[in-house]
Amino acid sequence: MVAFWIQISFYLLGIGAIAWFFGAVVSPNAGWTVAVALLAYWVVYQLYYLQKTMQWLEDFRLEKVPHGAGTWDLIFAKIYRIAKSGEQQRQQLAETLKDFRSATQAMPDGVVTLDEDNQVIYANEQAEEQLGISNEKDGGRNLINIVRHPDFVAYLNGTDWDKSIVLRGLRDSERVLQLQLIPYGTHQRLLMTRDITQLDRLETTRRDFVANVSHELKTPLTVLSGFLETIRELPVTEAQRNQYLGLMHAQAHRMENIVEDLLVLSKLESTNAPAQEDSIDMREMMDRLTTDANTISRSQHHIECTAASSAKLIGAEDELASAFSNLVSNAIRYTPAGGTIRLTWSINPEGCPVFSVEDTGPGIEPQHLPRLTERFYRVDRSRSRETGGTGLGLAIVKHVATRHQATLLIDSEVGKGSCFSMVFPEKRRVLPA
Ligand SMILES: Nc1ncnc2c1ncn2[C@@H]1O[C@H](COP(=O)(O)OP(=O)(O)OP(=O)(O)O)[C@@H](O)[C@H]1O
Ligand SMILES: [Mg+2]
Repeated sequence: MVAFWIQISFYLLGIGAIAWFFGAVVSPNAGWTVAVALLAYWVVYQLYYLQKTMQWLEDFRLEKVPHGAGTWDLIFAKIYRIAKSGEQQRQQLAETLKDFRSATQAMPDGVVTLDEDNQVIYANEQAEEQLGISNEKDGGRNLINIVRHPDFVAYLNGTDWDKSIVLRGLRDSERVLQLQLIPYGTHQRLLMTRDITQLDRLETTRRDFVANVSHELKTPLTVLSGFLETIRELPVTEAQRNQYLGLMHAQAHRMENIVEDLLVLSKLESTNAPAQEDSIDMREMMDRLTTDANTISRSQHHIECTAASSAKLIGAEDELASAFSNLVSNAIRYTPAGGTIRLTWSINPEGCPVFSVEDTGPGIEPQHLPRLTERFYRVDRSRSRETGGTGLGLAIVKHVATRHQATLLIDSEVGKGSCFSMVFPEKRRVLPA
């Protein structure tokens, strides 16, 4: 600023000095004429550079800075510096924005930035996918007009943003999303979205499991306490007493089975360690299973056993024996007397060892098949309970199969029978030396 005033003073003093010189040397009139002429020239000169400045500012480009002399050089240099630092700030801001966007893209959760009117400023990919919005099409649109779920609209319009909300079935019926609005800056808002479908499913399974266990244990307990009350409070004959005791014993045995199966399941679930690597002689295993099958069946079924391969199986013998006998006992339990049960140990065309149990029982309707390995799932609850089933057997089989990288295949046709096969990976097969 000082330089500016020095230059202006210099010009004016210069004009004054020249005019004074002419006034003194030539005549006072010549002095005034020179002063007016120089001032007029000075004004035209300033107007010329003013117009140049206007032209530059109208089509502003940093690199097209005009050249000027004296004061104008100072002015142009000043404008240039201000514009340059503005440009640098803009670039820095753009870099920061880019970094922010890359950081939000890397986040597993969805992020949407909104202005005070809930208009979308930016959404990362996760949010685009979870909420069904698009930066291109929906940028600047009110989020309420895009995500029309009534709970979400009420949440966004409210002020209770300390808590998150859970939205079910927003884009597909299975999807569960957790959303939370976080105000920031002066009036902006950040919407965080998280896909909690898996977590929600686990929570439902846990709730169902507790409810099922309670229900399964409550039934025999109710029967037991009922009989106990009868024996204690009513006069009963010796024969009635024995009959009640027998029934009570059956219920106690049922509870024992449930607890035993639950313990097996929890043991299988809690051990992350890979299954033991025993070398199992499957011919011996098949013999044992056949003997057990005949005992359970009390010779009411035809039991056929085919060990088509002499290959041994690598795995945890106790776990596999329990899984195989679950399949065998199911086949006998659900096949009416006179039916045929076929146990087979073979190698399939792909070289994978397969253990299968086939029966000529009632078969299972297709809608039950995907749920059969769920804990406590039974096709016909009353019939299964009559036969002492707890609905945990196939859950155990599935766990054992998974621990051995095997696949449990269920092939069933109503009225014809079922075939349960465990297909092991080829690496679990050992051919005899
Ligand atoms: N071979 C089969 N034929 C027809 N239905 C079957 C067969 N195997 C299983 N099921 C059906 O699948 C259901 C689940 O079997 P799972 O072995 O898990 O339980 P369960 O036999 O009822 O009880 P558990 O085996 O725990 O004593 C059974 O209740 C039955 O309805
Ligand atoms: Mg069973």
